[in-house]
Amino acid sequence: MAILITGGAGYIGSHTCIELLEAGYEVVVVDNLSNSSHISLNRVAEITNKNFTFYKMDLMDRGGLELVFSRHSIDAVIHFAGLKAVGESVQLPLSYYYTNITSTLILCEVMNKYNVHKLVFSSSATVYGRPELSPIAEDSPLGATNPYGRTKLMLEQILQDLAASSEQWGISILRYFNPIGAHKSGKIGENPNGIPNNLMPYISQVAVGKLEKVNVFGSDYETVDGTGVRDYIHVVDLAKGHLRALEKVMGKSGVDIYNLGTGQGYSVLEMIAGFERVAGRSIPYQIAARRPGDIAVCFADTQKANAELNWTAERGIEEMCEDSWRWQSSNPNGYEENSSSVREIAAASWE
Ligand code: NAD
Ligand code: WQD
Repeated sequence: MAILITGGAGYIGSHTCIELLEAGYEVVVVDNLSNSSHISLNRVAEITNKNFTFYKMDLMDRGGLELVFSRHSIDAVIHFAGLKAVGESVQLPLSYYYTNITSTLILCEVMNKYNVHKLVFSSSATVYGRPELSPIAEDSPLGATNPYGRTKLMLEQILQDLAASSEQWGISILRYFNPIGAHKSGKIGENPNGIPNNLMPYISQVAVGKLEKVNVFGSDYETVDGTGVRDYIHVVDLAKGHLRALEKVMGKSGVDIYNLGTGQGYSVLEMIAGFERVAGRSIPYQIAARRPGDIAVCFADTQKANAELNWTAERGIEEMCEDSWRWQSSNPNGYEENSSSVREIAAASWE
């Protein structure tokens, strides 16, 4: 079975490629590398010892996308591609609305044209806005607080309208909580551009000496130690959730929405302490002001995914920190051009 992975060179996409290849799927990746490196895909090939096809292409390139669908007998699409930085979305709202919405519309139109109607879509816990209570179930009130989150909310609505228009469509919307960690090999992981916005890459870069100390945004929340609590999920567990969602969507029509998290919350200070334990070094930090827009607590009710996808996150906080550290310490500068890559992926001839 052939699966098109949009955004497959990115953090979550590259880990999902590995799980798909190891499960025997044929994989076709489309990515414009705007927030990633082709080296992640070389590493995917190296880890799996499997071939797949990569098109360096923008999803907005309708003609190019049509070529991909005409060349490959695609059975389903996992759609990761998009812009994802909350703060940047406030600065560049048009870019976020344009890229995230238009690319998804074009993708769905081309899928329809080529009679492909199975889609797994990356949404986010950000669509719960400022939740009153955790754990958060899928039917909790929605409401995003920034342009990035609103693109996810709008896309969820668009996909539901699409599925309502024809029974051919089978769509799985996955709301990720806070993905962290990396593949066990230490060869692929999260590789943010510039100074990281998110906690775990920030902690890792302090641990490796690239940044001086972690700014802990707020210590006066109503939580176990006053710092923000989140549901961190290992990226490999998340990737495996996509395979379960894919299996489910192949056999049904309509839209299903699932939270992918662990159901457990950890505070910022607990994460720093956990990282210190596995890295065997201290992580300097200072308490800073609250970050605007942040909430105190956010963790998932995962019962729906557990029951309907037969999926549960298995990796705990220790393993998440260990794997993040292995990736960061063996690749202090992320994917470097001169880093070893023993084999080239089958790059399609597309420019
Ligand atoms: P990422 O930036 O690492 O991966 C996204 C990939 O899409 C990148 O490789 C980028 O180059 C590519 N891309 C972006 N715009 C494109 C376009 N127009 N055409 C082709 N390729 C394009 O991000 P990620 O962390 O792997 O996230 C994947 C998806 O999951 C995103 O949709 C994101 O919004 C969503 N998500 C991420 C998180 C998180 O914390 N990482 C949480 C919730 C949801
Ligand atoms: C986690 C905790 C911060 C950085 C974001 C997006 C969300 C989703 C996942 C895409 C919070 C604290 C952070 C730092 C800190 N992405 N923190 N110092 O905000 O829960 O979610 O990523 O869909 O949409 O908003 O994740 O990792 O930024 O923050 O103290 O330098 O760490 O205040 O409590 P967040 P995060």
